Amino acid sequence: MIVVTGATGNVGRALVERLVSEDRPVRALTRDPQRAALPAAAEVVQLQLDDPATLFRGASQLFLYIQAAGERTAAFLEAARQAGVRHVVMLSSGIIREGADETHPIHVMHATTERVVRDSGLQWTFLRPNAFATNAFQWAPQIRAGNTVRGVFADSQSAPIHEDDIAAVAQRVLVDGGHEGAVHRLTGPEAITTAGQVAAIGRALGRDLHFVEMPPDEASAELFPHVPPPVLQALLKTYEAAVGVPPEITTTVEKITGTPARAFATWAEDHADDFRA
Ligand SMILES: NC(=O)c1ccc[n+]([C@@H]2O[C@H](COP(=O)([O-])OP(=O)(O)OC[C@H]3O[C@@H](n4cnc5c(N)ncnc54)[C@H](OP(=O)(O)O)[C@@H]3O)[C@@H](O)[C@H]2O)c1
Repeated sequence: MIVVTGATGNVGRALVERLVSEDRPVRALTRDPQRAALPAAAEVVQLQLDDPATLFRGASQLFLYIQAAGERTAAFLEAARQAGVRHVVMLSSGIIREGADETHPIHVMHATTERVVRDSGLQWTFLRPNAFATNAFQWAPQIRAGNTVRGVFADSQSAPIHEDDIAAVAQRVLVDGGHEGAVHRLTGPEAITTAGQVAAIGRALGRDLHFVEMPPDEASAELFPHVPPPVLQALLKTYEAAVGVPPEITTTVEKITGTPARAFATWAEDHADDFRA
């Protein structure tokens, strides 16, 4: 049995669907099972942290999204270990790397959880993706409303990764084994600018979208629904530092899954309906 946290999220949902399609027993945790709309073959269980032992009955592996247990992650993992879980695959972040600013709040969040995982007595694998393609959902309300998208740093570069490519790596790591103690850096296959992402969404929709750069101090938290408000200012500095700077690109997705990571244009085609009014 594989327990998946964050199971209704971008990566977790794709992972549950993949594991179910391989007939793997999956327990999907969510704060609200009524609204989860997960595959019928998954055992959908309410995430509750007061008696976590029950969440792990009969389980051998855990996919960990860091906000699932937050500050209670050590106790959560201890309950998992006592119930017989042996291996945790953590969705961490590419911000953790040699020479990183260890005071950056996104670094602190993920490094703190990685330390808790290392200290848990469980075997672990860390997935460290850089920017998710799903961050582009931040422009969905504007794109549904018209052809102009206001955002920050038009020329900031990244290599956004498709959430299903992260899920595909997690699937292989969980099912095949042999990745214990490994750290996998995950990215999309090519660099693209912020304005380029908006243009690619436009092509997927058959519309000509225009990116209009706004000063970062005019950007409100509403424009960044995927970013916890306390870390927004630090993240804006990260986007600024990536203006005109080629991003890290790895081939880890292909090495582990046998299939190359999908380009942002493919992600935009896969999600075109999410941007339609
Ligand atoms: N976005 C990026 O560019 C990026 C880059 C590197 C790493 N990451 C990592 O990936 C994570 C996001 O993964 P994702 O996009 O798959 O997740 P997501 O879609 O944002 O959320 C996953 C699920 O977690 C639950 N959840 C949300 N907030 C929660 C909270 N405060 N406490 C407990 N549960 C909560 C929700 O499920 P229920 O409502 O069903 O419980 C949600 O569907 C980030 O938090 C970060 O650790 C992100």
